[in-house]
Order: sequence, then C-alpha cells, then structure tokens
Amino acid sequence: MKEQIQEILEEARRSIPSCVSDKDLEELRIKYLGKKSSLSDLLSKIGTVSKEERPQMGALLNKTKKEIAQLIEQKKLDLHEKTDTSRARGLDVTMPGRPLPIGAKHPLCQIWEEIEDIFINLGFEVAEGPEIESEYYNFDALNTPSGHPARNPQDTFYLKGGKLLRTQTSPMQIRVMEKFKPPIKIISTGRCYRVDKMDPSHLPVFHQVEALMVDEGITMSDLKGALDSFVKRIFTSDTRSRFRPHFFPFTEPSAEIDILCINCKGAGCKLCKKSGWLEMGGAGMVDPAVLEEVGYDPEKYTGYAFGLGIERIAMLRYGISDIRKLVTNDLRILKQFQ
Ligand code: DAH
Repeated sequence: MKEQIQEILEEARRSIPSCVSDKDLEELRIKYLGKKSSLSDLLSKIGTVSKEERPQMGALLNKTKKEIAQLIEQKKLDLHEKTDTSRARGLDVTMPGRPLPIGAKHPLCQIWEEIEDIFINLGFEVAEGPEIESEYYNFDALNTPSGHPARNPQDTFYLKGGKLLRTQTSPMQIRVMEKFKPPIKIISTGRCYRVDKMDPSHLPVFHQVEALMVDEGITMSDLKGALDSFVKRIFTSDTRSRFRPHFFPFTEPSAEIDILCINCKGAGCKLCKKSGWLEMGGAGMVDPAVLEEVGYDPEKYTGYAFGLGIERIAMLRYGISDIRKLVTNDLRILKQFQ
C-alpha cells in the first residue's frame, strides 16, 4: 500500500503544477481528493493492512492528502496571479492616482459672470446677439452718420458681403427694441472687434457690457442710480461714480462714466494718472432718433443706455496694468487669479 500511496503522490506532484486552468485543477482535485479517488479507496481498505502497519499507513494517507490539498491551493493562487496582469507587472491598481492639475475659469470669464449676476440682481435680463453684424445695426440705426470716423475700415473689420465684426455691443439696443415693446431693461455682453494694434491698453478683440432701459418717465437719475449700484458692487461699496459730458451719436445727452480711483480714492496716483478718477465707459439718454428708428414714440418713452469695457473692469479688479496679460494664456499669470 505504501508504494501505491507514494505513486499517487508522485503523480500529483507532476500533474498539479503543470495544469493551466481552474477547470483542470478542479478535475485534479476530484481525482486525488474526491470520494471516489484512489486515496479514498486506499483509506477504505486500511483494514486489510496488518495491525502494526495500520497507524503508520493511516498517517501516511492523511499526510499525502494534506500535501496534495496544499499543492492544489498553491496552484490556484498561481493561476490567479497569472491572469491578473496588472499585478504581474507590479502595478497596484488600488493605489490612488497621481493628482492632475485642475484648471479654473479664466479671470475674464469670472468677471464676466459676476457682472451679469450683478445686473440680473438689479432686475436686468441678459440678451445675446451676433458678433457678425450689418452696418445697419452697428452704425445706421444707432444714428451714426455715414462719414463718421468709426465707420472707417481702418477702425472697423469689414467682411465680404457688406457685413462687419461689431465694434460695440450697442447694436443689441436696436435688436432688442425692434423685437419688444417697452418696458425694456436688458444688458448684453460679448465680444467686440476693432482694428487696433495690441498694446498695454488695446486689444483687437475685447468685451463689453451694454445696458438699455426704456420706459415711460426714465430719467438720467435712473441711469446714475443703476451705474452707481453696479460700480459699488463690482468694486467696493465706497466706490463713487461721476459723469463727464461727452458725445455719442446714439445718446443725447451723452456722458463718459468715471469712478473714483479705487487705488488712491481720489488723492491721485499712477493708476489714475494723478486725476483721482478712472474712465469706465460711455452712457447717455437714448437719442429720440434711435427710438424713432425702432418705432417707439419718443414723446412717450425715454431710456438710458451705457456701455462698459469688461477687460477694463477685470484689470482694475485684478490690478493688471497690461491688458495683454488677460489673453496671452500665461499659466503663471492665470494661476494668480484662481
Ligand atoms: N458703444 C460705445 C463704445 O463702444 C459705448 C457706449 C456709449 C455705449 C454710450 C452706450 C452709450 O450704450 O449710451 O464706445
């Protein structure tokens, strides 16, 4: 019997390590350790062994079973390790990944959204319009005479077919009034284009926010109130605004908007060129000729409008002195505004 046991063990030692799948291994387990296995068979015949040899044989059978069970267990582990290729390559897939740098909204976008939020809170609706405009909306309907210097191809990008890239967001005043009856209370933000060489204060592509309010009895004090609320919210609550007489074809009277220098509070510094005030944009009461153009009765309705440069606001808020820093996508600069 001893030789038979030995033979079974030898065979198991050869066959188990060379098996290639779980299924084959299970077959071997049944073959060597199952109820009908030759080892079980031998165990049932232990009674035929002489009394003296019996304990020894019993122990040998158990030891053999144990060794075969161990061989099978080991093989099972080996098989699984082979199929798990990531582990075979020394890779621990449960380890946390390397952190990737996370991007952030561009500072200009952040300000843009903030501006819209402030005006939404002041009761304005946001209107969007095309960047490719006709001369009608960008100039004619805005009461801009045919010889006006702004129409010059040296200032305005003209496209084939008589279209142009809008030089201001003001054409949205016309588009909105054409479509809706008063009361109107909208802002429109977006890209504008002018034939300008890039320098510390000019970009050929820039952004404006335009506001328009038209109703019965709208006065310049409504304009001043809206602007003042806005500058106090976008800058600090002690920011003051003032109007300086100016001229725009589509407003009468027209004004340029200044704010008290946010840096020196009026004392005079490098930022405000010693004037104590910073230029913010243009404003005025909508010219009756513009109201007439869109079919509004200028005897009944009045309105105000203003336009501000978004880059200008961003530069003041972030303390940037060169507008180009906003568009060169230098990560070292952008990271400062995250
Ligand atoms: N569109 C003018 C510009 O780009 C700015 C402006 C001035 C807008 C007066 C207005 C306004 O709405 O009333 O220079």
